[in-house]
Amino acid sequence: MGKFLISGGTSLGGEVTVSGAKNAALPIITATLMADEPSKLMDIPNLRDVNNLCRIISKMGCDVKRNQQEIFIDPLNLNKPEADPELARQLRASYYILGVLLAKKGWARTSLPGGCNIGNRPIDLHLKGFKALGAEIRLDHGIVEVKSKKLKGDRIYLDYPSVGATINILLAACKAEGTTIIENAAREPEIVDLANFLTVMGAKIKGVGTDIIKIEGVEHLHGAEHRIIPDRIEAGTFMVASALTRGEVFVRNVLTEHVKPLIAKLHEMGIGLREDIAGVLIKGNGSLKAVDVKTLPYPGFPTDLQSQMMVLLTQADATSLVIETVWENRFMHVDELKRMGADIKIDGHSALVKPSKLTGAEVTATDLRAGAALILAGLAAQGDTEIRDIYHIERGYENINKKLASIGAYIKKAN
Ligand code: EPZ
Repeated sequence: MGKFLISGGTSLGGEVTVSGAKNAALPIITATLMADEPSKLMDIPNLRDVNNLCRIISKMGCDVKRNQQEIFIDPLNLNKPEADPELARQLRASYYILGVLLAKKGWARTSLPGGCNIGNRPIDLHLKGFKALGAEIRLDHGIVEVKSKKLKGDRIYLDYPSVGATINILLAACKAEGTTIIENAAREPEIVDLANFLTVMGAKIKGVGTDIIKIEGVEHLHGAEHRIIPDRIEAGTFMVASALTRGEVFVRNVLTEHVKPLIAKLHEMGIGLREDIAGVLIKGNGSLKAVDVKTLPYPGFPTDLQSQMMVLLTQADATSLVIETVWENRFMHVDELKRMGADIKIDGHSALVKPSKLTGAEVTATDLRAGAALILAGLAAQGDTEIRDIYHIERGYENINKKLASIGAYIKKAN
């Protein structure tokens, strides 16, 4: 299953470049199927999740060609509006084909995404939106099927600003008759990036990035070209790595407005930062002030950076409080961090993080961002760390070991 071997204790230095955003690439790749002509996407990261999605859409009849960070997708011969069940089970975001094919073909089917380590991952809000647009829903033996002769726009209130539900409903509404209004919509930058791509394809969308999105359905969407935004979570992970190791790293290809909550917290901790148009310089220094962190939907502190931030807080000069409000089970990294000497007490959705001396140990990645946190802990720990089940990490970080090694980390991959 692969493992990372890390020798900790060195300060990182130099420059590292962030790849395209996984959580923007996944919906945008799926959105290309809305057209009957080819699209070209740039800055697509080479990740397991992205490659699995490309396999899913090529099995549906699309022509998919990859050249480095560019992908050419021609959906003209799409003949199977159904995701391969085995691949779809491995990739939750394959459920975006429901919104796309409901809009394009009036029918779609995929396996219900199961739960995962961080939570039970329901899709009730996705289905609420599809129903409001006039679709019939069938759930049977773990398969979800949606169909509709003609989608009609409606007003849809999301009980929670769900990223996935906002995306799926946005996709379906692009070709629904009339106007759709999504209220209490999610505001993540990846949704804005998707809407920008859909607009170039000919969609009529207003208000994306706010909590009210208005979509005027159109008859036809055409192919388009688009460059994916940088991955704010990968960027944040490298920013924390520099602060944690008291290094000096320039993180290139960052839209700093997308990482404002992390920049604010690093400022509060006394970390030296310099932002410019190309990225952000993070200069770790002597002491780190303790801060409290509460995860919230964007523009709040991102849940996908909670575990990485928790590792940094173990090096602070006093106790910090971390509250996870988005996922019900996103402290899986804590038990593994405790094996490395972290002093963390969990009480429900809160964790008290005390100053800790981290030492190397054998640990296991339980999910994508927990695995990233273990890498960070290995970089800060005295001694050697072995991280198992790194396939979780490679789902969402392109060449993370090579990128960290290029800024001075002692990390290598082993079988
Ligand atoms: C996206 O997941 C991201 N994944 C997640 O990143 C991220 O943690 C999450 O948004 C929150 O920012 C992708 O973009 C592929 P949600 P998503 O729907 O869309 C509840 C990573 O590390 N909910 O906003 O699944 C749900 O239970 C991954 O890259 C419902 O109740 O997140 C959760 O408590 C991990 N009903 C909350 O909303 C629904 O129908 C947030 O879920 C849908 C969601």
